[in-house]
Amino acid sequence: MFTDRVLSGMRPTGGLHLGHYHGVLKNWVELQHQFECLFFVADWHALTTHYDTPEVIEQHVWEMVIDWLAAGVDPAQATLFIQSRVPAHAELHLLLSMITPLGWLERVPTYKDQQEKLSEKDLDTYGFLGYPLLQSADIVIYRANRVPVGEDQAPHIEFTREIVRRFNHIFGKEAGFREKAELAIRKLGSRKSRVYRELRNRYQEHGDEEALATAKSLLDEQQNLSMGDRERLFGYLEGGGKVILSEPEAMLTPASRMPGLDGQKMSKSYNNTINLREDEASVVRKIRTMPTDPARIRRTDPGDPARCPLWQFHLIYSDAGTREWVQQGCTTAGIGCLECKQPVIDAILAEQRPMHERARMYEEDPTLVRNIIADGCERADKLAQETMRDVREAMGLSYF
Ligand code: TRP
Ligand code: SF4
Repeated sequence: MFTDRVLSGMRPTGGLHLGHYHGVLKNWVELQHQFECLFFVADWHALTTHYDTPEVIEQHVWEMVIDWLAAGVDPAQATLFIQSRVPAHAELHLLLSMITPLGWLERVPTYKDQQEKLSEKDLDTYGFLGYPLLQSADIVIYRANRVPVGEDQAPHIEFTREIVRRFNHIFGKEAGFREKAELAIRKLGSRKSRVYRELRNRYQEHGDEEALATAKSLLDEQQNLSMGDRERLFGYLEGGGKVILSEPEAMLTPASRMPGLDGQKMSKSYNNTINLREDEASVVRKIRTMPTDPARIRRTDPGDPARCPLWQFHLIYSDAGTREWVQQGCTTAGIGCLECKQPVIDAILAEQRPMHERARMYEEDPTLVRNIIADGCERADKLAQETMRDVREAMGLSYF
């Protein structure tokens, strides 16, 4: 059986805040119960934009892992590791670069976008151009088929799929492939081999995607096939080659609605964040000093929640009853802003309490974190080596 494998990475370029929690980490925590998950610190990716300030990366790597653990990412469920500790990512990146057309990289929309957005940095580098390809290597080296990412990263997953198809097309040719595939079909048994052929024809002659999907699930369910035969039959469905690398799919994470302290989206660059493990006193201070509806100058002036950044927090943290109390109290000047802020303060503190509790032992004993990562790196490295063996062989690099 091919089981689903989820992989995602995060760049250690700053501290994590509640926007990361609501946008990404809560999702990871859910996924770890449903799938085999690998989550990693993308420190090489961070270096593509922060090569002149590597201390930023160094400073955030371990804190970021503690933030993940605080959020409930469980090292007993998911494999946690650091990209640069699994050097095979770099080897695969290099090997894939041999077949990567420059134009494909130049056309990835994030390339020009980020260069413009980060115009104070010199991103006219080989490393930055190769960013999406390094990401492809991250994904395919684990044969991960599901990649939770934000909308902005979707083009990188699409790019990865194209690289995988190109790789399989160029290196998936095996001497006697057709004959071997035909033999493998016979091993399916007479009924299933007929169904397989029918579906393959429907796909190859009419481009019927549904037939392709049905054939793939037929193969998924087939217990008695060797790995080699299975891959041949997958490859034979779509063309004449063997599937050496598999195409991932993006699992789009809905854009985070998490507001910042000033009504804009919560983001480090707007300086409007509440950190994941911010201490209580500071959370209280930040919310208390948050701006509210500018029309409420005096306590007796009625306000409008629609013009108030704090209302955005009620939308995330408060139930219908509390929201009604806010609407009513604000528009009639029945409640003051500090009063209105208290349920939000309470809700954020309640959300963060278990995070502080989970983090405490890691903060007190950093070797625990090092050990979790060492285990994860070892596991990741094993998986990566399995793929690398196939890749080296397919590329004619197994002469010793
Ligand atoms: N580029 C991703 C981001 O900025 C981080 C990343 C690196 C990643 N490699 C990955 C995400 C592989 C998913 C899979 O968010
Ligand atoms: Fe904002 Fe609440 Fe004050 Fe109204 S009462 S302005 S919603 S903080």
